[in-house]
Amino acid sequence: MTSPVHVVVVGSGIAGLTTARGAVEAGCTVTIVTKGVLEDSATAAAQGGIAAALRPGDTSAAHAHDTMVAGADHNDPRAVAVLTGEGPDRVRDLIALGVPFDRDDDGALRWGLEAAHSAPRIVHAGGDATGAAIERTLAASVRDRRIRIREHACLVDLLVEDGRVRGVEILAEGRRETLAADAVVLATGGAGQLYAHTTNPEAATGDGIAAAARAGAAVQDMEFVQFHPTVLAVGAPFLVSEAVRGEGATLIDDDGARFAFETHPDGELAPRDVVTRAVTRRMAAQAGHPVRLDATRLGGAFLRRRFPTIDAAVRARGLDWGLEPIPVTPAAHYLMGGVVTDLDGRTSVPGLYAVGETARTGVHGANRLASNSLLEGAVFGARAGAVLAADAAGARWPVATTPRVAPLPAPAVDAAPFSRAALQQLMWEDAGALRTRAGLDRAAAVLSAWSAHPLPRRTVAEVEDADLLDVAVLVVDAARRRRVSLGAHHLADADPVRLSPDRELVTAC
Ligand code: SIN
Repeated sequence: MTSPVHVVVVGSGIAGLTTARGAVEAGCTVTIVTKGVLEDSATAAAQGGIAAALRPGDTSAAHAHDTMVAGADHNDPRAVAVLTGEGPDRVRDLIALGVPFDRDDDGALRWGLEAAHSAPRIVHAGGDATGAAIERTLAASVRDRRIRIREHACLVDLLVEDGRVRGVEILAEGRRETLAADAVVLATGGAGQLYAHTTNPEAATGDGIAAAARAGAAVQDMEFVQFHPTVLAVGAPFLVSEAVRGEGATLIDDDGARFAFETHPDGELAPRDVVTRAVTRRMAAQAGHPVRLDATRLGGAFLRRRFPTIDAAVRARGLDWGLEPIPVTPAAHYLMGGVVTDLDGRTSVPGLYAVGETARTGVHGANRLASNSLLEGAVFGARAGAVLAADAAGARWPVATTPRVAPLPAPAVDAAPFSRAALQQLMWEDAGALRTRAGLDRAAAVLSAWSAHPLPRRTVAEVEDADLLDVAVLVVDAARRRRVSLGAHHLADADPVRLSPDRELVTAC
């Protein structure tokens, strides 16, 4: 009898846990490696919900269309068809597993509307605590199974032998360890910690993407970093869900004027990248003051009931959003690029898979549609989980094929010594929501100076710093290569070219 295929899944958000469940179902043995405790992840912080065409009258085709429009048509239509076509079944799976999505008195699911969706199709739980409900349910379900869980264990590197991934090196309780595996799945989320202001948890340091790139895997679309337009500008960054604007809240400037319609006919419900630029520009025009989100028309009682998590955060900052507009500002939120995969999570390196925000499936194009991220984790996690056992049993590991590109040369510069704070400030200033070619060149030069001498990788913080630096190089290099604006990659020093009435698509240099 042959021994079962052993899979190491790195990361414990919706993508990792869904993959782990699928792999066990397919007969694999699984170890989950996670930097914090199992329930710590960006998934747990997700507010708005999960989008799927489940509502009577809605269609996967309409959801696919919205996804492509928001993504500036840079999406891979095959990946979008998979996401939106399989999405409803994956949400049904979550319901069957016990995720308590919000329902009306008659038991029907409640639908939310978010920016750039042509119909209300976002299911949510606990009002604005959707990710936490999903994470709790999935984590409980994997704790029930024969899955080994390694908490407080940080990925250091992939073990590659003869061009194939054979396991991982981790740092746990101050010691390095190797875990052998037939296949490794990277589900480490994104890299919001690249930026001085982010909605992401502290663990979002791009570990999986950096390790995959070092192992020779192709990465793509790294220039597409999404900035969420409405993050509380008082105290620690705290996301104010797009669902609040979906319920009717508006954005106003220092003069009390609504400004979002000046750049897009959908105003506050335009694609996220468009609203973020409108907010960023308005803030620049008012000496950096945050703009304000006016939800007063919704009333304090409604806001407390529909958005209890945000309500608590707003009140903890001494604000009453039922009575007054609250200050908001953009912050780094989501990485559309990542490790290139096929539609089943296979990367370009045999034995290595990537799912969720770590992966670049092509599904999000140049700007992710709201509430498609949890869905991506559920859909592509399930697909990867289902193929792992068969792939390992085959004579040859199937791989996604994309050529790697050599980085562009960067100008030389004398840089101050590396620190995480300096990196975050550099990325915020020179590789943020509004970029210039000169700023990107400056960032490339500083990153190149910092990368000239490898950073130490003895502690978790040092491993994260080194990974952040590697990922920053990938983001800035990709941004310098893309010489036109597209979606979330916006060059402010070029003339905008409007390609269609409802989209701000391409800017020629
Ligand atoms: C939000 O609730 O606004 C964020 C949801 C998402 O990132 O899709």
